[in-house]
Amino acid sequence: MCGIVGYIGTNDTKEILLKGLEKLEYRGYDSAGIAVINENGVHVFKEKGRIADLRDIVDESVHAEVGIGHTRWATHGKPSKVNAHPHQSTSERFTLVHNGVIENYEQLKEAYLADVSFVSDTDTEVIVQLVEKFAAEEASVQEAFRKTLKLLEGSYALALLDSENADVIYVAKNKSPLLVGLGDTFNVVASDAMAMLQVTKQFLELMDQEMVIVTRNEVVISNLAGEVMERTPFTAELDASDIEKGTYQHYMLKEIEEQPLVIRKVIQQYQEENGQLVIDPSIVEALNEADRLYIVAAGTSYHAGLIGKQFIETMAKIPTEVHLASEFGYNMPLLSEKPLFIFISQSGETADSRAVLVQVKKLGYKALTLTNVPGSTLSREADYTLLLHAGPEIAVASTKAYTAQLAVLAILAEVTAKGRNVDAEIDIAHELAIVANAMEELCDGKDEFEQIARDYLTVSRNSFFIGRSLDYAVCLEAALKLKEISYIQAEGFAGGELKHGPIALIEDGTPVFALATQENVNLNLRGNVKEVAARGANTCIISMKGLEMNGDRFVLPEVHEILTPLISVLPMQYISYYAALHRGCDVDKPRNLAKSVTVE
Ligand code: F6R
Repeated sequence: MCGIVGYIGTNDTKEILLKGLEKLEYRGYDSAGIAVINENGVHVFKEKGRIADLRDIVDESVHAEVGIGHTRWATHGKPSKVNAHPHQSTSERFTLVHNGVIENYEQLKEAYLADVSFVSDTDTEVIVQLVEKFAAEEASVQEAFRKTLKLLEGSYALALLDSENADVIYVAKNKSPLLVGLGDTFNVVASDAMAMLQVTKQFLELMDQEMVIVTRNEVVISNLAGEVMERTPFTAELDASDIEKGTYQHYMLKEIEEQPLVIRKVIQQYQEENGQLVIDPSIVEALNEADRLYIVAAGTSYHAGLIGKQFIETMAKIPTEVHLASEFGYNMPLLSEKPLFIFISQSGETADSRAVLVQVKKLGYKALTLTNVPGSTLSREADYTLLLHAGPEIAVASTKAYTAQLAVLAILAEVTAKGRNVDAEIDIAHELAIVANAMEELCDGKDEFEQIARDYLTVSRNSFFIGRSLDYAVCLEAALKLKEISYIQAEGFAGGELKHGPIALIEDGTPVFALATQENVNLNLRGNVKEVAARGANTCIISMKGLEMNGDRFVLPEVHEILTPLISVLPMQYISYYAALHRGCDVDKPRNLAKSVTVE
């Protein structure tokens, strides 16, 4: 995680760096810092907390046209001013920002830096000290930097300043994302194009184990052997307005309410003029050739995978397993003869998923990535990509990317079914259009969900979500949403499992949300609700039109039964949002989290 930026040009750099960091705060926000360099040397400003806290301590009177910046999500060393980046070498000649994790930093410390006294607990400080050590031995800083990079094991995106040369930023990348942005009289560096859209839309993608010399007028990319690498720039397609909050109080609310639009966009992106849904035939072929699909993902994307499995098995009739990336990587199940891997990742950068992708590629298997970010690591490294088209998701809690994942998975299932002459028995394009309308209706009635949050979650410390079948998977997602932003302990359970243990947790007034959208288990689920109600639970049933019963708190508009997760999750997203809001939580940036989890 963590985000880095850099600017070298002809304008004052402080505001460009700070604005860039604000756009990267989704990558981590426990401390931040910038370093700028001018004729008086390097000036470092860093602070624990948010970019807003950093702004307060940056000395406005310092003018500089070159600088680097960092927003941190702590891995090595607790969040503190001293562990915040940038870090400096002992003589303060070199100043560095780093995103990633250096796995062998302790060995490097021991082998090369035994006589150096370190001021922070970070792995990053080892890198900057190594550069200083090698700069004294090598012909140039460039060589010292390259020598250092060759020793590093792990992931890094780095930007380095040398106080003896204010006209260059040294940059390097391995596994962590990093782009160089191009301008007429300036160049920039950023973990994500979003950070530098303020000054350019032209970017160069960097590959692993590349090093870059960035000056005002030139960008020279080389590999660790010193060979110069050619690269063609690409234009970032993002519209700056996509990443603004507009009139919304929070990104999360904006993103919840964008869902009807997103679903319509997904349909449009995968539909031909004749109304037929299409997917790259090579993807459909890869699915058809597989004897088993392995969906690998984390968090909300894993929850989407659980539903995707049911779409694929029901419509395309291909056996599908769903795995947590962090488990799969270290405990791989026995694979079938012809497996195909499907990675689901909003960011396309999740390290747990990437680790699995690297393993399965080594084993010679094919992989498809479903991601919201074109050009992301998981997209580049997989054989095939399907884009989610949800637009940038800024709030840490995923909402619109989840429903976009479900929509793309449904389309994939239907198109694959057609490709193998199986009757999917559903017109997904038509049914998704109905889903989009139903979502709109839910957004229009959001006040009811605010009231539910008040009625059920004002004083509670814990809560439960129960459902069966597809509703169970949605309950897992609902519980994650509530716990991550409101800090109310929330657990999702399969309705039938309660009596096997969890029911012991039910006390007088415990909020239990029940989802009832599946006809074949509606009565069973109702029975489970009665069991908890008999033990004092404060139950809130959200049911599907046609399945409603007396006493249900909310009835969802009718959509095709298999697509109910796309709409039943909306009340849950709203309820979580309002519960967090009422508790005064930082909805868009919940504690301890980051949007893009690039450490294993
Ligand atoms: C929760 C959330 C996380 C992510 C998870 C995977 O709201 O957003 O659980 O879903 O970190 O991230 P991606 O999808 O980017 O791989």
